[in-house]
Amino acid sequence: MMHPDIPVIAIDGPSASGKGTVAALVAKALGFHYLDSGALYRLTALAAQRQCVALDDEAALAELALHLDVRFEDGEVYLQNERVTDDVRSEACGTGASKVAVLPAVRTALLARQHAFRQLPGLVADGRDMGSVVFPDAALKIFLTATAEERAQRRYKQLMEKGISANLTNLLEDLRERDARDSARSVAPLRQEKDAILLDTTHINVNAAVDFVLKNFNLVAGAQVNPN
Ligand code: DC
Repeated sequence: MMHPDIPVIAIDGPSASGKGTVAALVAKALGFHYLDSGALYRLTALAAQRQCVALDDEAALAELALHLDVRFEDGEVYLQNERVTDDVRSEACGTGASKVAVLPAVRTALLARQHAFRQLPGLVADGRDMGSVVFPDAALKIFLTATAEERAQRRYKQLMEKGISANLTNLLEDLRERDARDSARSVAPLRQEKDAILLDTTHINVNAAVDFVLKNFNLVAGAQVNPN
């Protein structure tokens, strides 16, 4: 069900582009709710792994996605009351998520769950198809990206800071593979829609990206209040 009166800012883009960080900060600045839609695909992959469901068993995965017992609370993620915040962010879960995400029945199963995040005073949603499929009537659509090299560097730094060893060349290869899978799938592929504003963060920092989104939202929000 659509709620045109509840504004949505849709931020789509490739893996490790920093869209999650930007989206969460924009939501905080506006006092809006925040949907990390990638987490739902990651949780589906994690639940499948735990229940020994194959990542290409579309019917079983859709069933899992439909009944996922998840909770997002204070920046933490819970699956069946178990804290899985770190597990869902792992590279393995990201790759699994990208695989289950190509399955149309899984995407359909997660749709109502994503719509439920649209609550007053507004929502910032990040993912791949927020502006194209899940919230096509979003007030503002941003396509946030950066070069694959820059994204691999950022992911590398992030992992190092967490004390997790990583290999830059492998990370870059994995990112390119995921980009290709996310962009080539037939259902809700990753791409910049005609009505989305491009935000390339290769050479700008997080604060500048957040300001860019807020400025553009103020423009559209202002335009709605005052059509002249
Ligand atoms: O944004 P992320 O890296 O957490 O997403 C993990 C995977 O989930 C990504 O490779 C593709 C998929 N995904 C999707 O297909 N649609 C979304 N709206 C969000 C994520």
